[in-house]
Amino acid sequence: MKKLIVLLIVAAFLGTAFVAVAQDKGPAVIKMDRAKMGVVTFDHAKHQANTSDCTECHHTEGFETCSSCHRKSDSKEDVKKYKKAIHKNCKDCHKALGKGPLKKCSECHVKAK
Ligand code: HEC
Ligand code: HEC
Ligand code: HEC
Ligand code: HEC
Repeated sequence: MKKLIVLLIVAAFLGTAFVAVAQDKGPAVIKMDRAKMGVVTFDHAKHQANTSDCTECHHTEGFETCSSCHRKSDSKEDVKKYKKAIHKNCKDCHKALGKGPLKKCSECHVKAK
């Protein structure tokens, strides 16, 4: 009986490990090209490695694109407005950690030549 329980625990553990490996981590690098300011090349994989929890950026593990809820057309005052929410996400963390671009637009937005 004890052996069976151990076996079940091992099976459960392997099951979890398998799910973790199978999780869709999304693209390693994401070119965000909506802004006239220039393209933001976002190193998603590096940020994942530097962050303990996916939900620091994605509210939930649904992983929809930000723009599926955050719209350009949202009111200027609303935190939901696309530009506001995206900038808040990136800059609040960079500010808190003292790492990553903050003030200079061109450290994130690179204009095509
Ligand atoms: C930490 C990185 C970062 C910095 C610094 C930054 N931005 Fe952005 N910005 C982004 C990201 C990411 C997006 C989303 C781009 C996309 O979806 O294509 C964005 C989007 C925008 C948009 C477009 C919003 C829309 O609705 O299409 C504008 C305009 C913009 N930024 C202006 C600026 C200006 C001006 C500065 C400097 C004062 C600046 N940004 C600094 C990361 C940054
Ligand atoms: C530092 C912020 C940040 C972290 C941490 C992060 N992501 Fe993302 N992720 C983004 C951004 C920004 C996008 C681009 C969303 C968009 O295009 O609107 C994205 C896109 C994705 C996509 C593609 C969504 C689509 O439909 O195009 C998946 C899947 C994803 N992330 C999974 C993950 C997983 C899994 C983790 C944790 C291991 C994670 N992300 C951690 C910011 C982050
Ligand atoms: C399923 C819809 C949905 C998706 C997808 C979504 N958001 Fe949001 N987000 C919201 C709503 C709704 C609010 C406003 C909450 C409030 O008013 O307090 C919000 C608020 C925010 C805020 C401000 C409040 C806070 O938590 O600091 C930030 C920053 C933010 N979102 C960033 C993002 C980023 C970055 C992505 C993509 C990686 C994203 N959101 C994807 C719905 C969404
Ligand atoms: C949860 C914290 C966190 C969030 C959210 C975050 N970053 Fe960062 N970012 C970092 C850290 C930490 C570094 C420094 C990495 C290093 O020096 O190795 C960094 C560095 C960067 C750099 C410098 C080049 C590089 O890849 O190291 C860029 C560009 C950048 N981030 C863009 C963004 C954009 C765009 C967003 C929003 C979509 C964002 N970051 C959101 C933590 C974050």
